[in-house]
Amino acid sequence: MTQTPTLQVRIRSITFETDSILGFELVPLPPAQQLPAFTAGAHIDLHLDTAGGPLVRSYSLLNNPAETHRYCIGVHRDPNSRGGSRHMHEALRPGSVLTIGEPRNNFPLDESAPFNVFIAGGIGITPVLGMIERSQALGTPWRLHYAARTRQHAAFLGRLSRYQGCAGTEVLLNFDQEPGSRMLDLERIASELPDGAHLYCCGPLPMLEAYERATAHLPPERVHREYFAAKEAAATAGGFTVTLSRSGKTFDVPAGKSILDCLIDLHVEPPFSCREGVCGTCEVRVLEGVPDHRDLVLTDAERAAGDRMMVCCSGAKSPRLVLDL
Ligand code: FES
Repeated sequence: MTQTPTLQVRIRSITFETDSILGFELVPLPPAQQLPAFTAGAHIDLHLDTAGGPLVRSYSLLNNPAETHRYCIGVHRDPNSRGGSRHMHEALRPGSVLTIGEPRNNFPLDESAPFNVFIAGGIGITPVLGMIERSQALGTPWRLHYAARTRQHAAFLGRLSRYQGCAGTEVLLNFDQEPGSRMLDLERIASELPDGAHLYCCGPLPMLEAYERATAHLPPERVHREYFAAKEAAATAGGFTVTLSRSGKTFDVPAGKSILDCLIDLHVEPPFSCREGVCGTCEVRVLEGVPDHRDLVLTDAERAAGDRMMVCCSGAKSPRLVLDL
């Protein structure tokens, strides 16, 4: 399905974090090998052979980015699972072998920041754990706001407890369904920031939308977020033409299809994974024309530049696009 480099790993351990979240520790095959290095905020694609067919799912790496002997991920069992998280929870066990893609990062840590504020909701804690490890290594002070419905729904609390009492660190837990609790006050968090602080948010869609509203007044280069699922519908209205610069092929994109659908039909498959505009795998350079961006990977500045696009979900505002394919 995807042409990104892949490797094999073995599940060394599976840990119970909450009723719906399992932690997986993945080690290289053969065991003596090292895994490709990664940076804080990176994710890997898992190529899953599920009962319903092959699926690719992306999971954030939550271990220390200085480690090369293992990758650790957390998997939330999604009640609306299309098969990926259900397979991870039910079909896999320690010793199972998995095919994965090499790490990629759409949610990097700005290592020049004087202070980091992390905001995580539920399973959104996973990329933040690696960012905290990296902040510690850099000596950058940080504060974490971690929201979950109740303490029983919050994963990796044991790991966070190791920072208790450490200078320059603060872990603030918010359990909004426990007696006397309230939803995380993102407006207040965004209005009480240390000078020059960078903010990072990962969590469910309503939290991310509230975060974007609360941080709209801040310089965009200090505001970072990662989505797990699409926010808006893919551009499938069609009615434009695509030319592939390398082969010279030209095709019409009809209503109901994405550019990626058409490329697959033509057997010109760029790498792809989520097909929802959140993983960044299908990014293609745009040589001519104006994309209609629908992804959640590119920043506003990158969208405005118009020189690349995610072909799984984005379309065209111009009658024709020329792509570097
Ligand atoms: Fe994930 Fe397009 S395949 S962004």
